[in-house]
Amino acid sequence: MLADRIEAKWIDVFEKALSFCKVQRGEEVAILSETQSRQLNVHLTELALLRLGAKPFHVILPTPPQSVAVPVRSTGASDAMRGHKSAISALKASSMVVDLTVEGMLHAPELPEIISDGARLFMVSNEHPEALERLLPDPALTPKVKAAVKMLRAASTMTVHSEAGTDLEVDLTNAPTAGVWGYCDRPGTVAHWPGGVVVSFPGAGTVNGRLVLDAGDINLTFKRYLQYPVTLTIENDFVVDITGKGTDAELIKRYFAAWNDPAAYATSHVGWGMNPAARYEALTMYDERDTNGTELRAYPGNFLYSTGANEFAKRYTLGHFDLPVGHCTIALDGTNVIEGGKLLGELA
Ligand SMILES: [Fe+2]
Repeated sequence: MLADRIEAKWIDVFEKALSFCKVQRGEEVAILSETQSRQLNVHLTELALLRLGAKPFHVILPTPPQSVAVPVRSTGASDAMRGHKSAISALKASSMVVDLTVEGMLHAPELPEIISDGARLFMVSNEHPEALERLLPDPALTPKVKAAVKMLRAASTMTVHSEAGTDLEVDLTNAPTAGVWGYCDRPGTVAHWPGGVVVSFPGAGTVNGRLVLDAGDINLTFKRYLQYPVTLTIENDFVVDITGKGTDAELIKRYFAAWNDPAAYATSHVGWGMNPAARYEALTMYDERDTNGTELRAYPGNFLYSTGANEFAKRYTLGHFDLPVGHCTIALDGTNVIEGGKLLGELA
């Protein structure tokens, strides 16, 4: 349905997004990609940067060989860099990096080094520009995401309930929290487009209870809406039991098991979506190669629960599920911030 060609309107959209990142005339901007990157977005980035009067340059890495038995999806931790010192130096020396790697550098081990001299990193998620066009950053969202970050940082407990049976408790004490509003305009900061999510990384042994993925909830690793409910029992961060019938339970069990790694079963991050432009039904509108599903992580009011790597709990694995769960009530220290999947108060 979608054609991979340059459209003038998409250069406009990229120019707008990059101008939110305050790209300056004459600024030396690195365009980071790998050989399997979506070339259309790489080209649109270059054209938009040139229109803004910036001085872009390309850092292109060969997409590395696969290191595991199953396809790696939705980790946000690109392994394209593999510690490449020269590439890291080039990125570090620029004041801005536009990240077009397939998975993104968000959780890549080289990220802290790349931004350590003040470079900001703007990750363009591996989405077709047709989706990016609808999800252009909106500065009106920024204060709402910042308010959510503040709430999560101040809270010591998150509880999540749903009519489907979810009953989960998370101890948020000292949990690092990040909010993404869709652009980064300050030195040393990181953002992704599309934005509109807030996530906390709970410490070790802090997540307990039951998470019910209902029919209609989403597994973004598989890019699927669930057909039947799947219940995950979680003890001290780890999924210890998976019940449910049909394709979804089977896929989840097999992909978990494929890693042969206890860390794959543990909690990565918890949070919620809050981008009013993001659509729950979007996954039905795209061929799988055209979407990375960031929009589904950001649709307003979803409880975003993820398994896999959590460096703050000292767990490292490439197995990762992002599971947006609808119709939940989320409370922080006993006060509801989301009710039945609806954002409340200053978050709405
Ligand atoms: Fe995730």
